[in-house]
Amino acid sequence: MRSSSERARIAEALSKNSMNTYITTPIYYVNAEPHLGHAYTTIVADTYSRFCRLCGNNVRFQTGTDEHGDKIAEAAGREGIGPKAYVDRISALFRDTWPQLQIFPDTFIRTTDRDHIKTVQDILQKVYDQGDIYFDEYSGLYCKGCERFLTEKELVNGNCPDHQVPPREITEQNYFFRMSKYQQQLIDYIHTHPEFITPERYRNEVLSFLQEPLEDLCISRPTSRLTWGIRLPFDESFVTYVWFDALINYLTGIGYPDGEDYTRYWPVAEHLIAKDILKPHAIYWPTMLMAIGLPLFTRLHVHGYWNVDETKMSKSIGNVVRPGDLVAEYGSDTIRYFTLREMSFGLDASFGHDTIIARKNSDLANDLGNLFSRSTAMLMKYTGGLVPRSGPLVPADEELQLVASVMLSRYRETFSNFQFHLGLQSVWEFVSHANKYIVRNEPWALAADPGKTDRLHTVLYNLAECLRLLTLVLSPVMPQTAEKMVAGLGFAAGDPRVASLEQGGVWGLTPPGIKLQKIEVLFPRIEKIKPEEVAAKKPAVQKGQREEDGLITFEQFQAVDLRVAVVVAAERIAKSEKLLKLTVKVPEERTVVAGLAEFYSPEEMVGRRVLMVANLRPARLMGIESQGMLLAAKTEVDGKQRLFLAAVNERVAAGSKVS
Ligand code: MSP
Repeated sequence: MRSSSERARIAEALSKNSMNTYITTPIYYVNAEPHLGHAYTTIVADTYSRFCRLCGNNVRFQTGTDEHGDKIAEAAGREGIGPKAYVDRISALFRDTWPQLQIFPDTFIRTTDRDHIKTVQDILQKVYDQGDIYFDEYSGLYCKGCERFLTEKELVNGNCPDHQVPPREITEQNYFFRMSKYQQQLIDYIHTHPEFITPERYRNEVLSFLQEPLEDLCISRPTSRLTWGIRLPFDESFVTYVWFDALINYLTGIGYPDGEDYTRYWPVAEHLIAKDILKPHAIYWPTMLMAIGLPLFTRLHVHGYWNVDETKMSKSIGNVVRPGDLVAEYGSDTIRYFTLREMSFGLDASFGHDTIIARKNSDLANDLGNLFSRSTAMLMKYTGGLVPRSGPLVPADEELQLVASVMLSRYRETFSNFQFHLGLQSVWEFVSHANKYIVRNEPWALAADPGKTDRLHTVLYNLAECLRLLTLVLSPVMPQTAEKMVAGLGFAAGDPRVASLEQGGVWGLTPPGIKLQKIEVLFPRIEKIKPEEVAAKKPAVQKGQREEDGLITFEQFQAVDLRVAVVVAAERIAKSEKLLKLTVKVPEERTVVAGLAEFYSPEEMVGRRVLMVANLRPARLMGIESQGMLLAAKTEVDGKQRLFLAAVNERVAAGSKVS
């Protein structure tokens, strides 16, 4: 383990030297829709960006999609559409998911972007011209899932350990990158830069891998086998291996080779990944950079895997957790807090609805929510919402300040080192101390004694100050909650006392006289629901939740699961003039009973791509269970009522979410 003084030194060096921060996530493959795993990495990157901004840094945060290669071409083929139309659709799903989680990257890069393609080709040409790429025949064990050749040693019972299928023996002529040439240089670099790969277990894993001779990397695929990729500039009959193309996104996204942001941000580049893609990032990428003649990135942060109910998340098991569903169910701040608090960075974690509910009810509603509501309610009651001036301090006040300052320094250190779970733990120790401070100092008893007004004011001032510091440190994790807290405490958005750790991260900056504002409860408790009920329970607007002005919130709108449904069969229902029985795909098959018979014949319905509310409680109509509702507009045409179904373009796949 790295010592805490060493960690503090790194945190200090980073905060001193780098007024700039450049953080990246992996660019995600577009062969699957966004899920909890992608969301976690991107939440971490967004939280880190916000934290660095809070520290006064200029920040560049990049994510995006990886759009070439076998897997993508196959996925497009399965949907019967061209690869470009396919990648456009899934890439947009990723881009549209992030704002729902309050994630706002500065750059969303796609490997099909023209400038990216040009830079990849320029780099290939340079490395080829200097003799680090050569042509050779190769026989190897190729795993399609990994999109790479595996070594015998990596196999487990003859299978790829990640995909549990045997790799295919392939012999073909290809281009190779002389990765082996840079092996020793990489080993030396890792030894002399202890912070290069963190946490330490992954650094050790890489060093142990590097004890064996490194093979050169096959960086091409013949166009006879794959055309969906970037052509090699020196041989048109090959496309570039997807990893050689994808890793370069970290340069192209900031304008390499001559963009201003490249000069500013490359020297501070930090990559964030999960353990599945350690080898490409810790071995291929640094050796590629050495060959290109560029300095290496500063840190590679590696986290573990989210499992669902102790098993790997997978489409075939059907346990894939969709970020949009989580936001609709719990709200984005709760999901951000839960994922950051629950996963010890570097280790695997287990996802479960029960754990989210427990964290929300206990940490958020009970601890933080109560501290906020009790303290502000007392300020409202005893001083009319005006923060009073503090009187002389007693040891209990000094202890509170000390706990606050320990929390602030732990917070800086842990967040700089991607130990968010530990940082949040310290914040909650502070929350718990502040709650105890209320109990021990009994402001209600002080208020009842006219001789103790000074003491009451000191206690209330200290509580207001605790809330301000909490707002500050929680803003990177729960931005929407922090925004409400800022307003509740009477500060203007962006006031450095609640928006800058440098300027606001010390005790005593709440100005006496500032007026608190009444705000809604921060975290309403959730009544316990069973996981199996979660999917069924998503009413658009819950009873009593509707705002008085008749408007619904974004979260309430998000709770409606609107999807594209493809009608695969339709028939009339005996004895009904109005109803049609439809079989639709969303993408699983559902039966829908719809009042369409007066406007559409069954034959006209088959093949239509319509919009459906997919999370409506099933209803029985003419004895048939209807599992969804279609959207349509009624209008008068030539004096007659007509009905038109809302529909989408035929390129949109069944089951696509409408948002
Ligand atoms: N396209 C490559 C990355 C190229 S980067 C130059 C790729 N894409 S991916 O879609 O498979 O994304 C992998 C990443 O998604 C992981 O490294 C991690 O960031 C995230 N996760 C995917 N599943 C995950 C879990 N179950 N748990 C945690 N994170 C996971 O690899």
